[in-house]
Amino acid sequence: MLVDSFGRVATDLRVSLTDKCNLRCGYCMPPEGLDWLPKPDLLTADEICRLVEIGVRRLGITEVRYTGGEPLLRRELTEIVARTTALRPRPQVSITSNGIGLARLAEPLAAAGLDRVNISLDTLDRQTFVRLAHRDRLPDVLAGLAAAERAGLRPVKVNSVLMRGVNEHEAAGLLRFCLERGYELRFIEQMPLDAQHGWRRDTMVTADEILGMLNGHFSLTPDEPGERGSAPAEIFLVDGGPARVGVIGSVTRPFCGACDRVRLTADGQIRNCLFATEESDLRAALRGSASDDEIAARWTAAVRGKRAGHGIDDPAFLRPARPMSAIGG
Ligand code: GTP
Ligand code: 5AD
Ligand code: SF4
Repeated sequence: MLVDSFGRVATDLRVSLTDKCNLRCGYCMPPEGLDWLPKPDLLTADEICRLVEIGVRRLGITEVRYTGGEPLLRRELTEIVARTTALRPRPQVSITSNGIGLARLAEPLAAAGLDRVNISLDTLDRQTFVRLAHRDRLPDVLAGLAAAERAGLRPVKVNSVLMRGVNEHEAAGLLRFCLERGYELRFIEQMPLDAQHGWRRDTMVTADEILGMLNGHFSLTPDEPGERGSAPAEIFLVDGGPARVGVIGSVTRPFCGACDRVRLTADGQIRNCLFATEESDLRAALRGSASDDEIAARWTAAVRGKRAGHGIDDPAFLRPARPMSAIGG
């Protein structure tokens, strides 16, 4: 088991497959992109699958999430998913994606055993999308969402980051759009993980504000009060249910005390927290011919050193050197 010094157990492995992306969302990276990781530094599909197998068979990982950058850009994604769902005990397998390319890939991914998808959608307005993501791809995202639903990758969860003066007025419209299609929408507080260091605490749209905006249009009641568990989203029933909406208040309502996550970057580093400032190099171990036992021991030690929380409000808070796109959200 992967247990930290506060007794939290990591069972949810989030694996970044690439730091590249075909969008340029401002809360993540600048319009010109970033210096991508050099190809030889990336784990191969075999290396990824070996580490995931060690996590599942020896270390108690029960859920595997493939992220990016944009995971659909990784050509071997379907193969990696198939190899993951073939593991025993079989983990839950999902992806977090911007949806571009899913119109083509949803079926093959479902056939490979993928359980579900989370897709980012911050606006329903084509021009706002271009302003936000610097690419004219809203139709591709919407096609991807519909294809995921058709392929049975349910529940389809939608992630929206609200930004002041850009898309905050769309909160109710986004929720209506998702309710009509049976998608589970979660609004996310913006976190200080953009490569440009543009995040400001005082301009962030907070969970309280988001709930305030929605309350003007819908009646929201907490779903199973006090049952947030390890999930980042607080869930509310919309107009009495069964429809639901979530709010992920990473900054103002942190859930670090119940965190069950551990991350593997595309270049083979274990991060015990989204905001970790230190990493543990499993790629060096893999390529240095370490045994599964040695790799498991290094991984266990990396999780043991996890801090109590992200400390964003701490005056001594240090942002991680990697931006969101190279961590995997
Ligand atoms: P599921 O509800 O199980 O599908 O997972 P999820 O909501 O965590 O997944 P997703 O990848 O869709 O992430 C949604 C938002 O939560 C993103 O903005 C993530 O960056 C954020 N998030 C995910 N994991 C963590 C975490 O460990 N800490 C914090 N603070 N935020 C996280
Ligand atoms: N703060 C909050 N959420 C973010 N995401 C990307 N960058 C940030 C940020 N700085 C979201 C994306 C995606 C998920 C992986 O994380 O919108 O839905
Ligand atoms: Fe790409 Fe996701 Fe970053 Fe947007 S948030 S630029 S979709 S990696």
